[in-house]
Amino acid sequence: MTVRAVVRGVGHYLPKRIVENAEFEATLDTNDEWIRGRSGIERRHFVSEGETTSTMAAAAARAALEMAGMDANEVDAIIVATSTADLTFPSAATMVQAELGMKQGFAFDVQAVCAGFVYGLANANALILSGQARRVMVIGAETFSRIMDWTDRSTCVLFGDGAGALLLEAQDGEGTSADRGILATDLNSDGSYRDLLFVDGGVSTGTTGYLRMQGNQVFRHAVEKLASTATTAMTRAGVEASDIDWVVPHQANIRIIQGTAKKLGLPMEKVVVTVQDHGNTSAASIPLALSVGYSRGQIKTGDLLVTEAIGGGLAWGAVVLRW
Ligand code: UT7
Repeated sequence: MTVRAVVRGVGHYLPKRIVENAEFEATLDTNDEWIRGRSGIERRHFVSEGETTSTMAAAAARAALEMAGMDANEVDAIIVATSTADLTFPSAATMVQAELGMKQGFAFDVQAVCAGFVYGLANANALILSGQARRVMVIGAETFSRIMDWTDRSTCVLFGDGAGALLLEAQDGEGTSADRGILATDLNSDGSYRDLLFVDGGVSTGTTGYLRMQGNQVFRHAVEKLASTATTAMTRAGVEASDIDWVVPHQANIRIIQGTAKKLGLPMEKVVVTVQDHGNTSAASIPLALSVGYSRGQIKTGDLLVTEAIGGGLAWGAVVLRW
């Protein structure tokens, strides 16, 4: 018998305000054709006043709890993957804990930028496998609209806001790849690439700062590292690419998503794609895609999934799980 971290609920929240590519044409030297052609993005959601990473995260968590038919006080731990917590501290996760009225357990943030949700899942899995928690809410939530330089056309057209949540529970499995739950994880980082993607503010500058990215340099690393980490996780899980029902990738760029699927030998029919509607929501993109893929009826109980992500750090990783 093996303990597995099994999905009990999923949910998401997207701010009401939708911004189409064409809206950027009024203030920037850009156009819908460039944004759509280079990234696959058509629109994104942006927060309004009063909405924050923690309010969106709590809304996504509530939806996941509702699906599971569970109360927040039945959850042992909350992990929020984010690079845009409301404040420097306390963590967004403790704010979510308060917002949900959860009086016990523990909560903390994970910061691995766009790979944050994959890191969050790996941490939740470790807590469950080691017996430190039975039920863990893993949330990816971001308000990247608040760290955009609106004069920088090479970045501000690419990102969006939102949140997604996955509720995991310890259940007994057989120890085979036929089990439901997380089957394998793979995490990587290489801090020597810090200048490719960073925010030029923080505690050391006394400012919040703006996102800076050498997009084409990140692009060069993306497909190779994503295919490699997904392959490692599949090997650890004892599954082949041909066993995979759904690839649920980080949604940064449709060309990266297509290139990675091709390298893995998987057709685009097996890839959950939301980048056209959400833009790049960093750590929120995978749980958003999981929740949307589930609501669309794409992801079903028993399906074998691989998720993969890369972002600032560079940090990257993959998780194989059976839904
Ligand atoms: O999620 C975290 C990880 N991040 C990523 O995965 C992002 C990875 N990178 C990318 O998705 C792509 O590199 C971008 C979408 C950011 C850019 O696509 P690209 O094909 O790599 O284009 P580029 O950066 O090489 O720029 C091509 C041209 C440049 O003009 P010149 O120098 O060729 O004259 C840019 O100035 O496109 C220009 N450009 C724009 N033109 C119109 C840059 N931004 C814009 C814009 N509208 N918004």
